Amino acid sequence: MISQTISRDPLHIVILAAGAGKRMRSNWPKVLQPLAGRPLLAYVIDRARALAPASIRIVHGPAGVQLCAAFPEPDLIWCEQPEPHGTGDAVRAGIADLPAAARVLVLYGDTPLTPATDLESMLAAGADLAVLSAELDDAAGYGRIVRDDRGRFRAIVEERDADAEIRAIREVNTGVMTAAAGDFHRWLAALTRDNAQGEYLLTDCIALAGGEGKQVIALPSSAPLDCLGANDRAELARLERRLQQHRRTAALAAGVTLIDPERVEIRGRLEAGRDVVIDCGVILEGEVRLGDEVSLGAGVIVRDSTLAAGTAVEPYSVLDGVQTTGPCRIGPFARLRPGTVLAAGSRVGNFVETKKARLGEGSKAGHLSYLGDAEIGPGVNIGAGTITCNYDGRNKHPTAIGAGAFIGSNSALVAPVAIGADSLVGAGSVITEDVPAGSLALGRGRQVNRPRRQNDKKTKQKGA
Ligand code: UD1
Ligand code: CA
Repeated sequence: MISQTISRDPLHIVILAAGAGKRMRSNWPKVLQPLAGRPLLAYVIDRARALAPASIRIVHGPAGVQLCAAFPEPDLIWCEQPEPHGTGDAVRAGIADLPAAARVLVLYGDTPLTPATDLESMLAAGADLAVLSAELDDAAGYGRIVRDDRGRFRAIVEERDADAEIRAIREVNTGVMTAAAGDFHRWLAALTRDNAQGEYLLTDCIALAGGEGKQVIALPSSAPLDCLGANDRAELARLERRLQQHRRTAALAAGVTLIDPERVEIRGRLEAGRDVVIDCGVILEGEVRLGDEVSLGAGVIVRDSTLAAGTAVEPYSVLDGVQTTGPCRIGPFARLRPGTVLAAGSRVGNFVETKKARLGEGSKAGHLSYLGDAEIGPGVNIGAGTITCNYDGRNKHPTAIGAGAFIGSNSALVAPVAIGADSLVGAGSVITEDVPAGSLALGRGRQVNRPRRQNDKKTKQKGA
């Protein structure tokens, strides 16, 4: 019976995102505020897609251009609500063209973490009107679920319209609601702006449906704290903590060691092998893949990178767009930029910056270097202070360093330039021409030793 209801009527999801979001005090629409690096609305769209609906409609206001630009995917239908006259008015704008039999699920764009299982239970409940409710310790700001003395759901009363008795209720409206489009059409047409906010309140549909003798239910959420919205920065920060808690729990369950879970931020998607160890203050962003036994030291930041099994990143290194293809050592204090590829046994030490640089097996750049647009073979030693001068003010040029080469400290390699295999560049050289394999290159002023003059000696002695 229940599943029949679902299969007979195609599901259409309406996401409300037209509110002004004034309480954020931002130049950006509220639903574009980031949660773990992604806009709030992105999470709601994910939830919607997971239900495989016939359509996803996003109700937008004047910020529509910004929203469409952030979500260019063709499966989204954009519906304009010209003025923010309230959530009831917004749903009206979202479902105007839907046939009466269509099933409508309303989600709020500022409520990103609603459990998918709650949405499924609501759709399966088969009531004429179902609302997802949440039991909160602190219900301030939310619409309250009002039940009669037999526990039957009678109305939602917004905080601003509530008296002390209703404000004491801790069961609140999460904003998630489902009913048939035909019923919504009728109820929404009957809404008035006779309330403290002077808006068309979607929540007034409950009393209207009840008055018609419809079956109206409020289904308590399985995870009330995941049903919270974000109206201001403090609530957004609270959601961020909540989401981080979920991700840390998942990482720990998957076998990752988080030395202090509260001090690790997983802002993107983390894939980790066995026995990965993550120290305090680590921030992971974008797509991060960590092989078995990878370790990330204190304060390490990793974005969009894949680190092979056994890679050790020492404290305060920043990795962005990095790939290691075998166990290697990075940091402390290394900055690895996009296009850095490190082979097994290689080492990039403190105050070394790399960009579009490949280090072959066992190659080392231990200290104070810049390696950009560089192809470095295996077994190469890059001395402290080596710089690839890859930029001539207009274009970037490549540097190639062959297997087994030794670059003396404080050398400047002026690209484009190639250093042959097994060659040796003397410390302090400025290399402007290719170095053939197996040769010694010296590109510096020659040291001259002369006897000290008589005067020099006297001055020195007086001063001493
Ligand atoms: C709303 C509910 C409240 C519930 C709470 C849950 C109403 C009247 N109140 O209150 O019962 O407890 O959410 O978080 O529904 N929006 C529009 N157009 C508008 C107004 C709002 O699209 O004209 C959108 C907003 O962008 C937002 C959502 O609707 O995504 C909710 O609006 P908001 O103003 O945040 O409602 P609350 O006061 O939080
Ligand atoms: Ca809200």
